[in-house]
Amino acid sequence: MANQEKINELIEKRAKARLGGGEKRIDSQHAKGKLTARERIDLLLDDDSFEEFDMFVTHRSKSFGLDKQRFLSDGVITGHGTIDGRIVYVFSQDFTVFGGSLSETYALKICKIMDMAMKIGVPVIGLNDSGGARIQEGVRSLAGYAEIFQRNIMASGVIPQISSILGPCAGGAVYSPALTDFTIMTDKTSYMFVTGPKVVQTVTGEVVSAEELGGAKIHSTKSGVSHFLAESDEENLLLIRKLMSYLPSNNLEDPPAIVCDDPIDRLEDSLNEIIPESPNQPYDIVDVISTLVDNSEFTEVHRNYARNITVGFARFNGRSVGIVANQPKYYAGVLDIEASRKAARFVRFCDAFNIPVVTLVDVPGFLPGTGQEYGGIILHGAKLLFAYGEATVPKVTITLRKSYGGAHDVMSCKQLRGDLNYAWPTAEIAVMGAKGAVEVLEGSNIRKIEDTEEKTKYIERKEDEYTSKFANPYVAAKYGFIDDVIEPRNTRFRIIRALELLSNKKDVNPPKKHSNLPL
Ligand code: HXC
Repeated sequence: MANQEKINELIEKRAKARLGGGEKRIDSQHAKGKLTARERIDLLLDDDSFEEFDMFVTHRSKSFGLDKQRFLSDGVITGHGTIDGRIVYVFSQDFTVFGGSLSETYALKICKIMDMAMKIGVPVIGLNDSGGARIQEGVRSLAGYAEIFQRNIMASGVIPQISSILGPCAGGAVYSPALTDFTIMTDKTSYMFVTGPKVVQTVTGEVVSAEELGGAKIHSTKSGVSHFLAESDEENLLLIRKLMSYLPSNNLEDPPAIVCDDPIDRLEDSLNEIIPESPNQPYDIVDVISTLVDNSEFTEVHRNYARNITVGFARFNGRSVGIVANQPKYYAGVLDIEASRKAARFVRFCDAFNIPVVTLVDVPGFLPGTGQEYGGIILHGAKLLFAYGEATVPKVTITLRKSYGGAHDVMSCKQLRGDLNYAWPTAEIAVMGAKGAVEVLEGSNIRKIEDTEEKTKYIERKEDEYTSKFANPYVAAKYGFIDDVIEPRNTRFRIIRALELLSNKKDVNPPKKHSNLPL
């Protein structure tokens, strides 16, 4: 064969591989409102940056007539490219080939790029759209999944791992995304479940649709499995790019810094007024966050899950931070099981990847009741406590209003190695709120008063006394538990100065195999 013929053969093979399972299946993919695996890669990565591996790989099966059905690439496209000029490895499951199902060779392709990403120290992004284990391959497919899981585990905390769910993701296949740092689901076209609706009906008798069982909305609101909900494949992929802009490439690097055009000494008078007169009145913590951070840009994680706590990424003076903030707008910002888990996972992510944590506190306490106790709030609350206490990244805490009881300790207090802890003059830092405290301390005196009006007046007087004596920032400040009481409008500047001061902070944990996080 002449050279040119050989080159033509290569070109033809490439063209064939690019067609995946063929035009008909590509059309059917589009008809479902989904992009193809290759179109997704094109949208995700910088133009012309993708370099593909293993395009000529095919499966090795002979049974079930598979020897007559071989597709170049074998249903997954793998390689590397760049996002804003930074290298990432990517795999994109191709639903047009055997429903994107995973074979032994397919798993090896994914493992290859994961191994290379670990060697180089760059993120892995997985675009998932698959019918799960390739049924014809049996246990070899299960082994393939386990090879991927093992690599997910080894890569955890070393390189960022991001999973997009853009179609089916069922059975044990869901565990690879669950082992990664962030999961982004597309509304109406993606779902995740351990067992599908048919099995659910057979085993439990429950009739449920795929959407209700494991659709993007469910996982973004009820289970918390998905960190972000995207309206389309396009939005999903752009979210990955946005998320990447806050993250370092690996755990030994700092996150990328950008030039900040928002004045660092911008004073915000509106913050002096933001805390309502009545302690029971809510406000939106996202308004506070938007006012403080560079250009009001806040990328909220888990926006629709455990809304009583807000977490997400932003920048101060062009540098990434993770923000954790109680949200008084939902359930008064109380800490419960979901909120504790959500914030704990976020704090641990930030700590693993050298992203400072800024905590805004307005928390009335932990949610009481059997629902919470039976659900193990003790263990889940301890997760957040553990995460803050274990974190060695810079930690800056601002107490805006309430900071009561155990929740005060949990929310990045001084003794959990909070580096700089500031409070607004409106802060109430105490063991408990006035009502509860008066009930406990004055119970016997209150019971002795028979006249109802007199009783009410007595309680009110005692509550006022308690509030003025204890529900303020100055008691904590007197003991040095709060480093300074600051004017709210100065907060942006004070946070930026704190983060600058802490930029060379060194803190270490004692050597150990690993900690025993209360799971
Ligand atoms: C082989 C598969 C496949 C699979 C789909 N296909 N899933 N081939 N193994 N797991 C093929 C179909 O035969 C079909 O081929 C093509 O992909 C498209 O599938 P359709 O059914 O036509 O598409 P759709 O109607 O959109 O339904 C998609 C689906 C459904 C919901 C994913 O295909 C399905 O239920 N598949 C089986 C899912 C499953 O049970 N997987 C195993 C789970 S157990 P043609 O040639 O007609 O185009 C598992 C264990 C993992 O994954 C454990 C890890 C630890």
